[in-house]
Amino acid sequence: MNKIRVNDLKYRYPHSEKLALNDISFEIKQGEFIGIVGKNSSGKSTLCYALTGLVPHFFKGAYGGQVFIDNLEVMKTEISDLSLKVGLVFENPFSQITGSKFTVIDEIAFGLENMGIEREEMSTRIEASLKLLDIEHIKEKNPFSLSGGQMQRVAIASVLAMRPDILILDEPTSQLDPQGSDEVFKVVESLTKEGMTVIMAEHKMEKLAQYSDKILLLHEGKLIDFDTPQKIFSKKDILDYGVSPPIFTKIARALNINKEDSLLPVTLNEILTISPINSERGEKK
Ligand SMILES: Nc1ncnc2c1ncn2[C@@H]1O[C@H](COP(=O)(O)OP(=O)(O)OP(=O)(O)O)[C@@H](O)[C@H]1O
Ligand SMILES: [Mg+2]
Repeated sequence: MNKIRVNDLKYRYPHSEKLALNDISFEIKQGEFIGIVGKNSSGKSTLCYALTGLVPHFFKGAYGGQVFIDNLEVMKTEISDLSLKVGLVFENPFSQITGSKFTVIDEIAFGLENMGIEREEMSTRIEASLKLLDIEHIKEKNPFSLSGGQMQRVAIASVLAMRPDILILDEPTSQLDPQGSDEVFKVVESLTKEGMTVIMAEHKMEKLAQYSDKILLLHEGKLIDFDTPQKIFSKKDILDYGVSPPIFTKIARALNINKEDSLLPVTLNEILTISPINSERGEKK
């Protein structure tokens, strides 16, 4: 079943001359993990906003086409109703953290209070989110005393506590060290296994190659391609879009290692399972 449907979406910010999103159409199924890639200013954040209703309801501007979340048309649905279905984690946790709460627990509780969730259910959800993001030990701390990585985890926990069907993350790992990034991807993977649909704008191609089902490639507001990581990273002109494929894909291209379907491998595992290498390794045993 399609969870998200985007038809001919066009969008221009107020006082801007050019389209930030230019005639975009795609569909996303429930439980899929979708990566959004593209160079700076290609429209990744704007697309994230369009899926949550911030575009056009908050940013205003000129809007055409349609975005459906389940059967709700974003243009015709209030942000408060959309926020029950779609959660957004911003790139900068400072944009997410309310600034009015003195502990991590209260910070996570804030969104739940607004939703009118009962006290008992609230504690259950807060505890589960703290555990999932591995931040139980900082639950009494002031969010603004935390490191960037910890703050980002609190931001993700506060969105997850609202139990959205769809989670959108705009470069959520940009503040995190490699271990922190790994943890975010693992959490996201476990959420998609439980049926959550996840869309993540991200510059870490190795990670997207490993975890995502499909990748949306944007360039100057246009959707260039929407396909598996193997198809996207095998594109001959991928560098023209300012996207540098995973290191394993670059190595495979240089060494002319293709998969059976003539696409390039995108992870180390894929390289290792390609038969010539395997048989060579077998012979040496
Ligand atoms: N608030 C705004 N007002 C006017 N134009 C904007 C606004 N925000 C973004 N834009 C423009 O919209 C286009 C798409 O920007 P967007 O921020 O969506 O790109 P991005 O792919 O997320 O870039 P980055 O990798 O830097 O995060 C750019 O041309 C940008 O200058
Ligand atoms: Mg952005």
